Amino acid sequence: MEVIIQPNLEAASAVAASVVARLLREKPNAVLGLPTGNTPLLLYRELVRLNLDWSKVTTFNLDEYVGLPPEHPASYHSFMRHELFAHINLPANQAHVPDGMAEDIPSVCRRYEAQIRACGGIDLQILGIGADGHIGFNEPTSSLASRTRIKTLTSETRRANARFFGSEAEVPHHVITMGIGTILDTRQVLLLAFGQDKARAVAEAVEGPVTAMNPASALQMHPSAGFLLDETAASELCKTEYYRWVYDNKPDWQKG
Ligand code: F6R
Repeated sequence: MEVIIQPNLEAASAVAASVVARLLREKPNAVLGLPTGNTPLLLYRELVRLNLDWSKVTTFNLDEYVGLPPEHPASYHSFMRHELFAHINLPANQAHVPDGMAEDIPSVCRRYEAQIRACGGIDLQILGIGADGHIGFNEPTSSLASRTRIKTLTSETRRANARFFGSEAEVPHHVITMGIGTILDTRQVLLLAFGQDKARAVAEAVEGPVTAMNPASALQMHPSAGFLLDETAASELCKTEYYRWVYDNKPDWQKG
């Protein structure tokens, strides 16, 4: 596991954008896994600014609310359109977001997994993290082997996401999310976390035991997972000096 600490979210988002840009240059038909939320906003802005070629790229979003039509302003379809897809040359049929309006959700989830496999798997999965350690919408106690499926949000997550809706009561209880097993199958993971309210979850995920009570801790089992943090999100880690030294002294062949 690699931990990269940057002075602020602007610097960290620029590092994340350079990781994506490098992958797209090296592999123009790369498959990306993408999050929504506040965390990736600057990354997406930076990716738009870089004016990369997305014509052969395929994307899979982590999650979507059940029962929200794609046009709903708080849906993750809308979020992605607004923050990224409308500004890049990614063909619409190569951008996948789970269908929260589907009548047969289990079969939509199975199809999502099959589509990821058919594209050869996800090359780079970008993640945010909840203050309780959730990744995607895999809430604490989610199976560490889970695949794409329907999940019930905790009251904490519904409260945190009420900012995108008129009120907490309007936040759906159910979501479709890639599973932790789905995320562990990706070739590379880059988890972004900014702000003091993520510090505890980050410290437990990186330095605590692997536990379903902190789903992000499962990334300790991933062969190529990085945590890209600002100073405040890194503030509860014990081994920060070590992480900084490792990053500052990377051999050339390892530098991204
Ligand atoms: C969203 C997602 C979630 C968020 C997490 C943090 O697609 O997968 O796991 O990454 O809830 O949200 P923000 O970034 O809004 O703090």
